Amino acid sequence: MKIIKAKDYTEMSRKAANIISAQVIMKPNCVLGLATGSSPLGIYTQLIDWYKKGDLDFSHTKSVNLDEYRGLSHDNEQSYYYFMNENFFKHINIAPANTYIPDGMEPDAAKACADHEAIIQELGGIDLQLLGLGNNGHIGFNEPGVAFEKETHCVNLTESTIQANSRFFKKIEDVPTQAYTMGIKTIMMAKKILIIVSGEGKANIVNKAFFGPVVPQVPASILQMHPDVTLVADAAALSKCPL
Ligand code: GLP
Repeated sequence: MKIIKAKDYTEMSRKAANIISAQVIMKPNCVLGLATGSSPLGIYTQLIDWYKKGDLDFSHTKSVNLDEYRGLSHDNEQSYYYFMNENFFKHINIAPANTYIPDGMEPDAAKACADHEAIIQELGGIDLQLLGLGNNGHIGFNEPGVAFEKETHCVNLTESTIQANSRFFKKIEDVPTQAYTMGIKTIMMAKKILIIVSGEGKANIVNKAFFGPVVPQVPASILQMHPDVTLVADAAALSKCPL
């Protein structure tokens, strides 16, 4: 694993955006695996800026998202569909038909997940998967204890994730209790992985995930086994790592 240390969130975002932009320049028709949460927002802002300056062209690029809440409609501001459009897609020239997010409104969970997995296969796999890190070590919505063999599947969110994500909702009761997420196997099949982490609040989990044993209780720890992972983190997030 390659570890790139940034001084703060802004520098982390810029360095990570550089890696994504290199991917798009080297392979314009690449498949980007994208993520939500607060961590990637700075990356999206930076990529939009470079697109507006004429440095990036997403017209041949395709994207697949990691996860989506079950039961939230596209126009629900907390859906990841809405998030991706508002924070990234509508500001760049990616074709909406080339962007794929698990269908949170598909009531048949098995179908929604099989469809998403099939799309990834049809696109030829993910060239570069962007990941954030949950407070409890989750990636996507793969919560502690998840089997590493899973493909896209429906999960019951843990109390700690519901609590952590409630900051985006009016009240905690509004946070969905289930989500569709790429599985660990799906994520590990990506050719390259870029994981970003910022802030002191995640310092303990970063240390556990990347310097501790590879165990399902810390889902992100499996990334230690991937042949091409880059962690871009700020100094605060790396403060408890033996570097
Ligand atoms: C959510 C998402 C994850 C994300 C995590 C961390 O649970 N499903 O993909 O990595 O939150 O979010 P944040 O970056 O806001 O800390």
